[in-house]
Amino acid sequence: MRVTGTGHAGLHIDTPSGTILCDPWVNPAYLASWFPFPDNSQLDWERLGRVDYLYVSHLHRDHFDPEHLRRWVSKEATVLLPDFPTDELETALRDAGFTDFLRTRSEQPVDLGGGLTVMVQALTAPTDGPVGDSSLWLEHDGIRLFDQNDARPRDLGAVRRLGPVDAHLLQFSGAIWYPMTYELPPSEKRALGRQKRARQIDRTVRYVDELEARWVFPIAGPPCFLDDELWELNDLDGDDANIFMDQQAFVDHYWGLGHANGVVLLPGSVAELTHEACRVTHPVDDIRQFFAAKRAHLTAYRERQRPMIEAAKASWRHPEVDVFAELKARWEPLLDRSSHLVAGVGAPVRLDLVGDDGELVESILIDFPAKQVRRDAGDAVHYRLTMRRELVEHLVHTGETDWVNSLLLSCRFSAERVGRYNESLFTFLKCLSRERLAYAERWYADQQPDAEDITVGEWLVQRRCPHLKADLSRFAVVEGNVLTCQMHGWQFDLDTGRCLTSANLEIRSRNIAVGDHSG
Ligand code: FES
Repeated sequence: MRVTGTGHAGLHIDTPSGTILCDPWVNPAYLASWFPFPDNSQLDWERLGRVDYLYVSHLHRDHFDPEHLRRWVSKEATVLLPDFPTDELETALRDAGFTDFLRTRSEQPVDLGGGLTVMVQALTAPTDGPVGDSSLWLEHDGIRLFDQNDARPRDLGAVRRLGPVDAHLLQFSGAIWYPMTYELPPSEKRALGRQKRARQIDRTVRYVDELEARWVFPIAGPPCFLDDELWELNDLDGDDANIFMDQQAFVDHYWGLGHANGVVLLPGSVAELTHEACRVTHPVDDIRQFFAAKRAHLTAYRERQRPMIEAAKASWRHPEVDVFAELKARWEPLLDRSSHLVAGVGAPVRLDLVGDDGELVESILIDFPAKQVRRDAGDAVHYRLTMRRELVEHLVHTGETDWVNSLLLSCRFSAERVGRYNESLFTFLKCLSRERLAYAERWYADQQPDAEDITVGEWLVQRRCPHLKADLSRFAVVEGNVLTCQMHGWQFDLDTGRCLTSANLEIRSRNIAVGDHSG
């Protein structure tokens, strides 16, 4: 089996029984803020696009690049479609020109013939990707590969049961706006960044330890930021407070933890996987030197992309859009249909729209308890999001129904929050269509309390994390009376059961050393 890195989470997998192209991404994503690192635009996409199968793991724009798919990927390819609750991915791929779909069932292996078997695991919580994320397992001639990309399966049992894995490819770097966009003192922001970077590594290593694959490939990040306004987000010098750590930095850290099986894939790197070995060739002579010269690579890349970024920015302004009236007309019917998310947010949220000079132009209140969009009247708010008005004009103009997968991931905003993180707010902002909102509401309504308990240290706690049901026998770390679930880093006070990370969640816990009940 031959695996060619095509940048970010992109892979070209070549077997004698078929070729699969996974998550090809080239064009900037999220309002021209994210670019693939390293630059992958010069690959031979004509050759890479002539494949038998296409796999797009989910609709995040650093995995689904419609412009690139339309131009370069063979429309003869059969799409390996994850078993998602909505048909948005299929519709988007049909719009890109694909007509042949193999609808997989989550965790059910499919024989593609010639000894090539694939299995797609679909994750379907409203918090997974843009309502759906997935991973791909495949086997040919006894070689097994697991492309986890940026999916966060609750456990890897379905993959382990299919036999030892040779290549495990997974995300290790950050892919979020936290903590950089929060209005915090620099020292506090750096401390949170350090904590976030450490948790990303912990989570990755836990997945790696769970699967014990022969070879581990850090993929699906980091992106790079080429707009001057966002340049500071790049990790140019191995800053331990920067969440966008690069592949080489991860492999070095991973080596320090005693693991010698980490493999970096650059765009154009080729890994030949056999029963005996993994032989890798790179498109550069010295990969370590390549990462050492990252600043120069990004500086030149920025100059090449500057016209594209300027053109994108010039397209955002639509002063004719009455933002307040449009949000009121579009969002109030959604607020009206929501019960779980509205209750989960539980407080008004303010959008402050500013001009180019940073001066406030208008404030719009999303009053979740009253299910209204109204003018701000000095109300106490839980969150305040500040952004340029032209960005919102653009989102309204294009009918964007997922502000997470556009504005928020762009990092082109700032946020202030009172109290704990509120996941319901961000779920609402990615469900700005009737279909998605209805699915999210149904999903939350169907959640059953978890009855099983496990012992972690001197605590008896419920087995499944109250957040997204990670198995705490694998993902929990307890220090004193604080349990951290390493899946997403959420913390719980075991004395009271209270979630320290987000509102509206509790864990069932009991100290068996002293017989203290709580939760
Ligand atoms: S499942 Fe998300 S923190 Fe536990």
